[in-house]
Amino acid sequence: MHKKVKKAVFPVAGLGTRFLPATKSIPKEMLTVIDRPLIQYAVEEAKAAGIEEFIFVTGRGKSALEDFFDYSYELNETLKHRGNKQDLDAVNHVVLDPGTVIYTRQQEPLGLGHAVWCARHLVKDEPFAVLLADDLIEAKKPCLKQMVEAYEECASNVVALMEVDAKESSSYGMVRPGVGQDKTVKIEGVVEKPAPKDSPSNLAIVGRYILHSDIFDALESVRAGKNGEIQLTDAISQLLKRQEFYGLKFDGARYDCGSKHGLIEATIEMALNRPDMASEVRSIIKQMVNKK
Ligand code: G1P
Repeated sequence: MHKKVKKAVFPVAGLGTRFLPATKSIPKEMLTVIDRPLIQYAVEEAKAAGIEEFIFVTGRGKSALEDFFDYSYELNETLKHRGNKQDLDAVNHVVLDPGTVIYTRQQEPLGLGHAVWCARHLVKDEPFAVLLADDLIEAKKPCLKQMVEAYEECASNVVALMEVDAKESSSYGMVRPGVGQDKTVKIEGVVEKPAPKDSPSNLAIVGRYILHSDIFDALESVRAGKNGEIQLTDAISQLLKRQEFYGLKFDGARYDCGSKHGLIEATIEMALNRPDMASEVRSIIKQMVNKK
């Protein structure tokens, strides 16, 4: 019987250079889509998938992120005093249960693979999820939940996949799928950010993974790859020699909130999906478009 996926790793040590100067003093994962920071969307997705332990791989200047998931005594007292129940519920909702959240630091920005490796002593020998908060995924059934269900069926590593334009391959880990499969594809190979002419397919890895803890051994042995960083994709490529990996073409929409236009797109889309905002935002957009 395979073990349940109870732990999730959130690599949040990135410098967020695409959002400078904002990210000089705000972690990029704290950038907001409407009224929630990106990291909250990822944590809520993990909770909905049954995750019980939240491991953040942080870095310098990320204390706003730790404070966000903590109890805020002064704010709570003020809101209580004002009888502001709605806001009080919103701030209490994000507090993670005592003892379920762990922060560790990646001292140097050596890549996603290195960040995940930094969590090895916390994950130990259990299967675990990795969520990249700048990939915001809107789905009826949360993406990680879809992946946990796929994992329970195949009892192997699972990554989230999406089709991208051929010219975008150099922004993603790209997979070589096995033949003749549908929503869940067996993965035959992976390569990090290949040029379009070298890409094995148009299927890209999105920032959601369920991994066997053997990935840590693979991460120990991979050398710096693309951009001189330790790449998670390279470790996956190595582990593929010994273990099966499946790719799930999940149902849902993914927004690249690591880019400015992606963050704007997510903000508009999420606002249009919210009953408390949709009509006002729709008319603002109409007015703007008519003026241009
Ligand atoms: C990372 C991974 C890449 C993956 C992508 C998904 O790249 O290295 O394989 O496709 O996330 O967003 P990054 O976007 O951090 O450069």
